[in-house]
Amino acid sequence: MKVKVLFVCLGNICRSPMAEGIFNQRVLNEGLSEIIETDSAGTSGYHTGELPDLRMRNTARNHGIELVSRARQFKKEDLNTFDFILAMDEMNMMDIKHFGAGTAEVRLMTSFGNTTVKNVPDPYYGGEQGFEDVYELLSYHTGELLIYIKSRLGL
Ligand code: 4NP
Repeated sequence: MKVKVLFVCLGNICRSPMAEGIFNQRVLNEGLSEIIETDSAGTSGYHTGELPDLRMRNTARNHGIELVSRARQFKKEDLNTFDFILAMDEMNMMDIKHFGAGTAEVRLMTSFGNTTVKNVPDPYYGGEQGFEDVYELLSYHTGELLIYIKSRLGL
């Protein structure tokens, strides 16, 4: 059985697709694609069906990652169909918790690794640098997440 990992932000067009893209690249590089499966979702349905924001896709591409996901809204069943759910910020976390509890381990993305930063900042209304900052932050925390999942799997 596969380990299922879900990344969640507000719109599902900036932070969570980037987290998924970087994490997938790490999973591929480590030869774990047969074991780990990913998805991403937004707590809102504002952008359902859309590709990630062009600015986020460009940032990702500059780092050798193509973002091809289509936005979808988080749903209650996700709490039982995924093993790990990673919220990009505390607001996303609260919105997820409003659905109640499931079998998934629900955590802040930044809780993996060593940092005082709690939230992956929403880059949507800011400038280009915000997108690069999101990449840098997620690059670190997705690496730490993979270390955690591997240890849980005994790998
Ligand atoms: P994300 O960024 O949550 O990282 O995908 C946002 C994208 C769109 C909006 C807010 C945040 N919006 O309000 O449309």
